[in-house]
Amino acid sequence: MQVNITLKKVVDDSYNIIIDTLPKIYFDTKIAIITNSTVSKLHLEYLLTKISAKELHVITLKDGEEYKNQESIDTILNSLFENRFNRKSMLIAFGGGVIGDMTGFSASIYQRGIDFIQIPTTLLSQVDASVGGKTGMNNRYGKNLVGAFHQPKAVYIDPYFLTTLPNREFGAGVAEIVKMAVTFNKSFFEFLEKANLKNANVLQEVIKRAVQTKADVVVKDEKEHGIRAALNYGHTFGHVIENKTKYKKFLHGEAVAIGIVMANEVAVKMNQMTMEEAFKIKQLLEKYNLPTTFEIDDVESFYETFFLDKKSSDSSITFIIPKGIGDVVITDKIDKETIMYVLNKFGEH
Ligand code: NAD
Ligand code: GLY
Repeated sequence: MQVNITLKKVVDDSYNIIIDTLPKIYFDTKIAIITNSTVSKLHLEYLLTKISAKELHVITLKDGEEYKNQESIDTILNSLFENRFNRKSMLIAFGGGVIGDMTGFSASIYQRGIDFIQIPTTLLSQVDASVGGKTGMNNRYGKNLVGAFHQPKAVYIDPYFLTTLPNREFGAGVAEIVKMAVTFNKSFFEFLEKANLKNANVLQEVIKRAVQTKADVVVKDEKEHGIRAALNYGHTFGHVIENKTKYKKFLHGEAVAIGIVMANEVAVKMNQMTMEEAFKIKQLLEKYNLPTTFEIDDVESFYETFFLDKKSSDSSITFIIPKGIGDVVITDKIDKETIMYVLNKFGEH
């Protein structure tokens, strides 16, 4: 006996990403703005001059990656239940990537899925985390190991919020922008080399180009079955660096910057990138005070830590290795010897 369920779906999850001063928006439904204590103090008053709704609630979480967990998700869900949110209600993520990922995840599971919009307030979340529908939280086994693909209904990127962003956080966002340019967009990289990000118009243009680059990738491979994995360039090494420094020494984007330099060393060793290209990328990262080196104490232990990454299968590690500037190869076929050659270069001190 057999029962068949035919579920061929045509889903339109398209949405717009508006990069401009936040417009005034009225929502004819129940809304919860999810934010954290830092962003709330700096910008909630301004947001409330722009956003109004039939019924509006604000849920303020503690600030920090360490609160990207089940407890915070429960805080959000409990508040939605207590305030009788229904399937037509909507969430607004107002903060950096931590708030964006948790708001999106809560929206994906509340009553089996409700709508949400993103109003990202860090450079990293404006160019990367708010775009593409990856949502989630951390647990004791690792970062972002629980989550869902749930696309927002819209993303509103207002560069005004970045005026209060600390310099290190700004740099962390630049690392993700450089990632996008090196992997997919040579002319964007050349633009970045000359760009002055202190100029508001230039910054807006850079955000637009980065978002467009990511959007093009997401459209091709929403659920990361292939090319979207290239957006993990710098992350394979970066995650190990974060692990080895117990997530305390570097911001995520800073670890990615070092990871980019390491991946480039592999590319040079494999004759996929010239030393001049690798140098140009390092120079660009250093222009934004990003770290580009890391002293590896124990290269063997560094190598073993690759296998803890969820993006590695049990027996192989996936590396994202650029092919010049503007192209990239995703491969799990790099032999240990090549990787150890590069790790040893960072271990010589
Ligand atoms: P974050 O959300 O922790 O924000 C960094 C810090 O900046 C926080 O202290 C925050 O309160 C503060 N902040 C936010 N906006 C501010 C403003 N305008 N002025 C001053 N301070 C402000 O970190 P992040 O770098 O934005 O995001 C990192 C998170 O994003 C990680 O959890 C990562 O896993 C996730 N991420 C997700 C994706 C995705 O595709 N979903 C992609 C990249 C990263
Ligand atoms: N940050 C990587 C991705 O969105 O796929």
